[in-house]
Amino acid sequence: MRFRNKVVWITGASSGIGEALAYAMAREGAHLILTARRRERLEAVRNACAGPGKVLLLPFDVTDYECHPTMVGAAIEHFGQVDILVNNAGISQRSLVLETDFSVDRRIMEVNFFSVVSLTKTLLPYMVERGGGHIAVVSSLLGKFSTPLRSAYCASKHALHGFFDALRAEVYDKNIYVTLICPGFVRTEVSLHALRGDGSEHGQMDDTIAKGMPPDVCARRIVNALYKRKEEVYIARYELIALYLKRFAPGLFSKLIRKAKVA
Ligand SMILES: NC(=O)c1ccc[n+]([C@@H]2O[C@H](COP(=O)([O-])OP(=O)(O)OC[C@H]3O[C@@H](n4cnc5c(N)ncnc54)[C@H](OP(=O)(O)O)[C@@H]3O)[C@@H](O)[C@H]2O)c1
Repeated sequence: MRFRNKVVWITGASSGIGEALAYAMAREGAHLILTARRRERLEAVRNACAGPGKVLLLPFDVTDYECHPTMVGAAIEHFGQVDILVNNAGISQRSLVLETDFSVDRRIMEVNFFSVVSLTKTLLPYMVERGGGHIAVVSSLLGKFSTPLRSAYCASKHALHGFFDALRAEVYDKNIYVTLICPGFVRTEVSLHALRGDGSEHGQMDDTIAKGMPPDVCARRIVNALYKRKEEVYIARYELIALYLKRFAPGLFSKLIRKAKVA
C-alpha cells in the first residue's frame, strides 16, 4: 500500500502498460483517474481494479488540447488534487522515412509529445500551488537510441527527454519530481495500432512484441520507480544491450542497427 490515498492520473489506461499500471496502482491503494479514447475499455479496466469506487474515468483524445483545462479542472474538483500524472498514451510507427506521409510524422508528434507537454503544463500550476507533485512520462528505449522504421516515433520519444529533463531542473526546488520511464519490448497492442506510412494501422502483433515483457511485470517496475522517485528508469531485458552499445560503442551500434530486427 505504498500509494495509499494518492491520486494517480494515467493516460492510455485502456490497454497495455497503462491498464496494467492501473491495476498495480489500485493494489497499492491509490485513487485513480483513467484516460483514453475507448470509454468501454476504460469501464472494463475500472471494474477490474481493486476498489473501483476510487476510480474516475476521464475519456478524451489527448490531442484535443482545448479540453485539457476542462479535464484538469474535473480531476481537481473530484479528488481535490493530483499527486502523480503518468503520461503514458502513445502510438508507434512501422514505416520507412521515404514512405511516410508528413501527416503521419505530425500525428505521432502530436500524440506522443505535444499532448504530453500540453496536459503537463495545464496541471503543473496546480502542483506548484499545492507545493508538490510528480510527473511521469512513458518514453521508450527508443527515446535513447533510434532504429529503422520508427523515425517519427524515436523523434517523439527523444523530444520527451529534452523537454522533461529541462522541466526537472526547473521544478527541483518546488518539490515536483519528474520520472522518465523507458521500456523495451512489452506485450501490448502497440504494434496493432502502430501507423504505417499512409496513416493506416499496422494491424499486426509483431514477434518482438508478442515475446515481450508481460505488461504486469513492466507495471510493477514502474510502480517501484515512481515510489523511489527515480529520474529515469530502463525496463527491458536483452534489448537493454542496445542502450549500452549506443552509449559506449556508438560506431558499432550504428553498424549493427542497420540490420536489426525491429518488426
Ligand atoms: N509496448 C512496448 O513495447 C512499448 C515499449 C516502449 C514504450 N512503450 C510506450 O508505452 C506507452 C503505452 O503503450 P502500450 O505498449 O501499452 O500500447 P497500447 O496497448 O496500444 O496502449 C496505448 C494506449 O494509449 C492510448 N491512446 C493512444 N492514442 C490516444 C489518444 N489520441 N488519446 C488518448 N489515448 C490514446 C490507447 O487508448 P485508446 O485507443 O482507447 O485511446 C491505449 O490506452 C506508449 O507511450 C508507448 O510508446 C511501449
